[in-house]
Amino acid sequence: MADKNVTRGEMLYEGKAKQVFATDKKDLVLVHFKDDATAFNGEKKGQIEDKGIINNKLSASFFRFVESAGIPTHFVTRVNDRDMLCRKVTIIPLEVIVRNVVAGSLAKRTGQAEGTELPEPIVELTYKDDAQGDPLVTKEQAISMGAAKAEEIDQICAMALQVNDALYPWLLEKKLRLIDFKLEFGRNEEGHIVLADEMSPDTCRFWDSETGEKLDKDRFRRDMGGEKEAYVEVWNRVGDFHFAVPG
Ligand code: TMP
Repeated sequence: MADKNVTRGEMLYEGKAKQVFATDKKDLVLVHFKDDATAFNGEKKGQIEDKGIINNKLSASFFRFVESAGIPTHFVTRVNDRDMLCRKVTIIPLEVIVRNVVAGSLAKRTGQAEGTELPEPIVELTYKDDAQGDPLVTKEQAISMGAAKAEEIDQICAMALQVNDALYPWLLEKKLRLIDFKLEFGRNEEGHIVLADEMSPDTCRFWDSETGEKLDKDRFRRDMGGEKEAYVEVWNRVGDFHFAVPG
C-alpha cells in the first residue's frame, strides 16, 4: 500500500481542470481535481458540481485498470476526494487521441456523420499549445517541433492503442461505448514513458451502448444540461476498480 501521508508543497502548475503540487517526497506530486470546466480552448467556462471528486475517483479506476492490462501510468494512489498522488513526470507536449467512432472535431473536419463506426481505431496527435489551439500535427511535424523522438512517438501511439484494446470491451460490459479519448504521456525520472494526466468524462467520449445517450463533457460543450448526472452515471457503471490480488 502506497504511503498517503505526504505533505503538500508549492503549486507547480495550474491547468484548466487540475492543479499539480510538489510534495515532501522528491519524486511524487499531488494532482488536485477542480470542478472547473472549459471548452473550445477556454472560450467557454463553467463549473460542473463535484466533477473534481468524480474525475479523481474515475481516473484512479481507469489508471488501475490500464495498469492491470500492462500499461504503466504515473498513478500511485488516491489520497482524498480531490487529490491523487502521482509519480513526477515531464509531460510530453502531445495530446494523443484515439477514435473508434466519428465524433467531434473529426466529424467537423471530414464531414463524416457523427456516430459512424470506424473500420479501425484512428490515432491523432495534437501539439499542446493553447496559443495555437492545440493544432493537429503529423508524427514528422511533432518530431521537427522537438515534442518527442520518432521511437518515442511510435511507443506512445502503440500504448494508446493498447489502452483502447483493453478499455473498449471492459466498458462495453458496463454498457458504455468508448467513442474516443485523449491521453497524455510523460517521462519519469528514469526516462521511461508512462501514461499521465487524467482519464475521465472530460477527456473521453462515452455513449450509452443501448440508447446512444452522451455521458461525457459534450453535455457541457453543447449546452445539453445534465452533465453532473452523466458523470455520476459513468462512475456508477465503472466503479472503484482494484486489481484482484492473487492468493
Ligand atoms: P475532439 O473530437 O474535440 O478532437 O476530441 C477528441 C477527444 O479528445 C474527446 O474524447 C475529447 C478529448 N479532448 C480533450 O480531452 N481535451 C481537449 O482539449 C480536446 C479538444 C478534446
